[in-house]
Amino acid sequence: MLLLLSRRVSLSFVKQVIPRGPNLFSKPAFLNSRSFKFKVKFSTASANATIQNIITMPERRPFVRLPTDVYPVNYGLCLKPDLIDFTFEGKLEARIEVVQGTNQIVMNCADIDIITASFTPEGGDEINATGFNYQNEDEKVTLSFPTALQKGAGSLKIDFVGELNDKMKGFYRSKYASQSGEVRYAAVTQFEATDARRAFPCWDEPAIKATFDITLIVPKDRVALSNMNVIDRKPYPEDQDLVEVKFATTPIMSTYLVAFVIGEYDFVEGQSSDGIAVRVYTPLGKAEQGKFALEVATKTLPFYKDYFNVPYPLPKIDLIAIADFAAGAMENWGLVTYRETALLIDPKNSCSSSRQWVALVVGHELAHQWFGNLVTMEWWTHLWLNEGFASWIEYLCVDHCFPEYDIWTQFVSADYTRALDLDALDNSHPIEVNVGHPSEVDEIFDAISYSKGASVIRMLHNYIGDEDFRKGMHSYLLKFQHKNASTEDLWDCLEQASGKPIAAVMSSWTKQMGFPIIVVDQEQQGEDRVLKISQTKFCASGPHNGEECPSWMVPISICTSEDPGCTKMKVLLDQAETTVTVPSVAPEQWVKINPGTVGFYRIQYSSPMLESLLPGIRDLSLLPVDRLGLQNDLFSLARAGMISTVEVLKLMEAFVNEPNYTVWSDLSSNLGVLSSLLSHTDYHEDIQEFIRDLFTPIGLKLGWDSKPGEGHLDALLRGLVLGKLGKAGHKPTLEEARRRFKDHVEGKQVLTADLRSPVYLTVLKHGDSTTLDTMFKLHKQADMQEEKNRIERVLGAISAPDLIQRVLTFALSEEVRPQDTVSVIGGVAGSSKHGRKAAWKFVKDNWEELHNRYQGGFLISRLIKLTVDGFAVDKMAAEVKSFFESHHTPSAERTVQQCCENIMLNANWLKRDADDIHQYLLQRKAPPV
Ligand code: BES
Ligand code: ZN
Repeated sequence: MLLLLSRRVSLSFVKQVIPRGPNLFSKPAFLNSRSFKFKVKFSTASANATIQNIITMPERRPFVRLPTDVYPVNYGLCLKPDLIDFTFEGKLEARIEVVQGTNQIVMNCADIDIITASFTPEGGDEINATGFNYQNEDEKVTLSFPTALQKGAGSLKIDFVGELNDKMKGFYRSKYASQSGEVRYAAVTQFEATDARRAFPCWDEPAIKATFDITLIVPKDRVALSNMNVIDRKPYPEDQDLVEVKFATTPIMSTYLVAFVIGEYDFVEGQSSDGIAVRVYTPLGKAEQGKFALEVATKTLPFYKDYFNVPYPLPKIDLIAIADFAAGAMENWGLVTYRETALLIDPKNSCSSSRQWVALVVGHELAHQWFGNLVTMEWWTHLWLNEGFASWIEYLCVDHCFPEYDIWTQFVSADYTRALDLDALDNSHPIEVNVGHPSEVDEIFDAISYSKGASVIRMLHNYIGDEDFRKGMHSYLLKFQHKNASTEDLWDCLEQASGKPIAAVMSSWTKQMGFPIIVVDQEQQGEDRVLKISQTKFCASGPHNGEECPSWMVPISICTSEDPGCTKMKVLLDQAETTVTVPSVAPEQWVKINPGTVGFYRIQYSSPMLESLLPGIRDLSLLPVDRLGLQNDLFSLARAGMISTVEVLKLMEAFVNEPNYTVWSDLSSNLGVLSSLLSHTDYHEDIQEFIRDLFTPIGLKLGWDSKPGEGHLDALLRGLVLGKLGKAGHKPTLEEARRRFKDHVEGKQVLTADLRSPVYLTVLKHGDSTTLDTMFKLHKQADMQEEKNRIERVLGAISAPDLIQRVLTFALSEEVRPQDTVSVIGGVAGSSKHGRKAAWKFVKDNWEELHNRYQGGFLISRLIKLTVDGFAVDKMAAEVKSFFESHHTPSAERTVQQCCENIMLNANWLKRDADDIHQYLLQRKAPPV
């Protein structure tokens, strides 16, 4: 482990040295050798000196993994939470193995007080520990014994107490209201990545697996759940109000996957076709809202069983909605925990995007039951294996359950482009990144691990083909089940299954940060089209100018207008440049790279090639996903200064007849970025006019009410378009939104769930204090968390400065769940120029409370990003940097660097293109002469 590096690896460019293959069309000779190992070389070349100057590189925190002289075999764990005092008592009786004689045992332990500890060797006498030395910074405790513990098995007993905290990590309390409105608390867990140690002393590393026998002592009127099924439930002798609930022994597993929940819940239940008992636990009285997730889960389990050809190994699985929950969901083995909004669906009050989100999250967490839980990453460096894989296969699963969602096109907009944007920064990091201290682990739950991870797996799946991919996955799961694995292990299995050079190809994507831009030019030679293809690193700041440019092994597919959906040719680009002859392409045909937008790279076509492709946008002959990809590439080239933003605006106008939801959605978010940039100018209104003009025809076509025969995507498209028009101040949309809002509030005509977000957004954007009051009232009245969140996310749209201040105050009030504060503040920052400034000031003024609330977890990174990423003035980068230098936030260090880089990029973009954009927006309004 390279844990003692004094600089973050991700801050240097990583240069890869790949032996050259003889040609592109056959497998290079070196790849036939199984002994080939991918080599990486570190280079210090920086692509952008200006940006680097402002970003200082933090020191890594010292960190060492637990000693290996003692390891656990089985944890007998009994916990007794007190839901009134918010404390818990615990008894651990662990069977351990002493590998090497020692008089110390080092374990993980945080915020726990040990009362007594002893060790009893098998067949020997109990030895009491004489000291507990807490190393708080390292989240460890050293138990000292008066004599050496001899090699062999024994039992370690520890009695301890802890607090049921309110930080949404470890063993914590979650607040809810009983049906009569009384405030109550549930006791729940969230252990990933490194918080099991806050619930009981343990060896809290993913590779130290053991079995668990869990017992919970709880009030007899509460539901008690854990990973396994209940095997015994009896009165607790010392208190007649309590019961002792004992759960079956778990399979061997990592600590971060252990879970328990004690609270009041209803449930719906079913059985999957492969005989697994599935329950969805909901708040009391809301069992109906669990039905949709139950349906998805019972369909998904056999889908994965079949896909992996490995059965789900536990007898049951519970999915439970937790009121206070930091992440979206957590894959605890057999007891998956969710935010309420990621699990509960009300047939009347849930919108289509919630339904889709629930399906994706269920698909994601259930995939982890195999990929993560059965086979676990050896260390957090391989976190991406868990998260990247689950983030890819959740789409496969949803595509299986809901083909009408066209979910793979949505993948490109939601994950693929998001990953490309982040990974184009100098402050990105490789997918595989050395991490040590818990704050560094928290930091990598980001779009690189999730979205880039998923995108490179999608590219790999496409490169290998489904059949061999499944074969490889099966052998990987079989070989490493109940064990741990690393990235290389997966490559080995896929290489065996496919006979392709997987390790060499994939290492270029996982071990070095960034991705290539593929530059393409063409020439007609007789009946053939000859392409000149080259690669260089794509940088958000413009052409790569470091001395040594990294390169990738790039699977490249090519299609032509003869059959735009079909790959005509595949090559593997393993060098800086090459030529490819595409046979039999008539001169009038276009040639396109990357059909399906599967390869993880951007493309820069020569002007004639690009021009030949553009009609395919208007006449829709290009696939939707490729129309989306082309537009997104050009947008990011404009941001990097490699083409003019005006060219992209012209391109956007070609989408006026676009019918596809996802294409519009991607276009819309890019226009949102541009609109936010131009909010720094005095012609912000001109881009609103551009947006209104672009979205008006599709808005008119869709109308306000759904028509017979419409489906999921029509509902999403209508919401998107009306919201966009309303926000941009399109008068007829604003008037209709106001009318419908009034009817809704007066109870005359309740808004359908899919129309609520666009209507709320529109009336707030152009609303006054009465509108805001009404929204607060709707928020208070809302019974579903989905509705509360829907309102919270758009509150920031309000325009008047004094009202913005009220929204910010509301964000930290009791009315907003702690995990949702981030999206209220983020909504303010993302809505307007004034909102951005006010949100940043608010975050600074309330830093202590916010930081304390999230205890440095990943929500603080999200908050920072949402608040400051939109600035476009150099001095703001300096201000943000300086604030975080004096307000140390280890888990957000990289995020802060990325934000500073983004601010500088925005500032440069504005300086470069602002005048041209303004001219273009003025000129398109001028009447033709
Ligand atoms: N393992 C994660 C939960 C998690 C996230 C734990 C961050 C610790 C830190 C879980 O599998 C997950 O990825 N959840 C996602 C939802 C998913 C559908 C992308 C989340 O919480 O956002
Ligand atoms: Zn996950």
